[in-house]
Amino acid sequence: MMNVAKDSLRIDQTRLRADFEALAQIGATRDGGVHRPALGEAHLAARAWFRERAEADGLGFRTDGAGNHSACLACGPPGAPILLLGSHLDSVPRGGRYDGALGVLAALEVLRVVQETGLALPVHLEAIDFTDEEGTLVGLLGSAALAGTLDPDELRQPRGGREVLAAGFARAGLTDESVLGVRRDPATLAGYLELHVEQGARLVDAGVDVGVVTGIVGYCSYRLTFTGQANHAGTTSMAERADAAQGACAFTLRARELVMADYAGGVVNVGDMHFSPGAYNIIPGAVALALEFRSPEAETLDRLEADLLALAREQAATFGLGLEVAWQGRCEPALLDARVQSLIAQAADGLGLSHVSLPSGAGHDAQSLARVCPAGMLFVPSVGGVSHSPDEFTRWADCVNGANVLLQTVLRWARLDSNANLTDEY
Ligand code: GLV
Ligand code: MN
Ligand code: MN
Repeated sequence: MMNVAKDSLRIDQTRLRADFEALAQIGATRDGGVHRPALGEAHLAARAWFRERAEADGLGFRTDGAGNHSACLACGPPGAPILLLGSHLDSVPRGGRYDGALGVLAALEVLRVVQETGLALPVHLEAIDFTDEEGTLVGLLGSAALAGTLDPDELRQPRGGREVLAAGFARAGLTDESVLGVRRDPATLAGYLELHVEQGARLVDAGVDVGVVTGIVGYCSYRLTFTGQANHAGTTSMAERADAAQGACAFTLRARELVMADYAGGVVNVGDMHFSPGAYNIIPGAVALALEFRSPEAETLDRLEADLLALAREQAATFGLGLEVAWQGRCEPALLDARVQSLIAQAADGLGLSHVSLPSGAGHDAQSLARVCPAGMLFVPSVGGVSHSPDEFTRWADCVNGANVLLQTVLRWARLDSNANLTDEY
């Protein structure tokens, strides 16, 4: 092992930048974003690129039955637990370049620095790209499978539709059984760390360099279908119509009012509506909408769920409509490990970076891992707070800061005790 002053180690920002730019070309959209829905061609190309990069650097590579892709560095003693570092390479439809990508590339960069420096740590390191973090298929699919918390019902009725899931699985060579079989024994995991862009404006508004994440919201998804009677739009009087659009739209507006009045800290979103048959001159016979709602507390999420479903039934009745309710999945809220939060804060202090503690309103793979091992996350500022959009942007200096905090957190974690073991309570 080389004799190195660990506090002075930094990631190679030129190499990280080159990787970042190369990855952003895969699935690039003309407006500067990326379109890499999980297990689509562009996402699989990004994963192949990641594998090539890892292997070119002499790192190990592993993939599992959920398609999670990992670069591995055996830098600990035989049988040592693995400290996972990661995020995701999939994107929302027409999303931004930073969401997920920064965390995976920074994780890869940390492995390279540790490898090049010849450091022996009490843990092995693994930089992991989790499958379908974004929920175009299920949401947190790869990380929940790894944690052993994936509900088989979510594969049967995935929020992105079973056909889309089956096509993705076929492209990637996965099956329901392979996905459900990838649980890792928590005893093999020292913990999990993730760098991510904030996706909100709190850091940038406050002029703070780093966010230490305290907890992550939980969220539920449903497909609600309001059903009426398709009919002639010109000959049916307004009073006689069973117009599915009226129920769907009234529900959407009332859901906003409900959350704003009664659920501070909660949010609701109707992200898609599909009108059938869908023509200027036909009264909509059915409208299916994609509903998602979030809360940082599980009990509040339960209450919100009950209230929104009651509201949907009420609005269907008001407009003389039927209602079909299809549950499409739930990701539990999570608190992140207090000791890991303190390590991240110390790492930021050591780098002379300002930091603040804050919760996350976005979902992350860390919330899956938090259920089985000590997990922590750090954020870097998102300019304008914009995300899930091609306009997503984080200043490069902040990306570098985040990657260095990730590296220094790993090194501090490794110093904790001879096993770098925080796992007693899991
Ligand atoms: C993932 O980014 C989510 O919060 O939906
Ligand atoms: Mn993300
Ligand atoms: Mn996202």
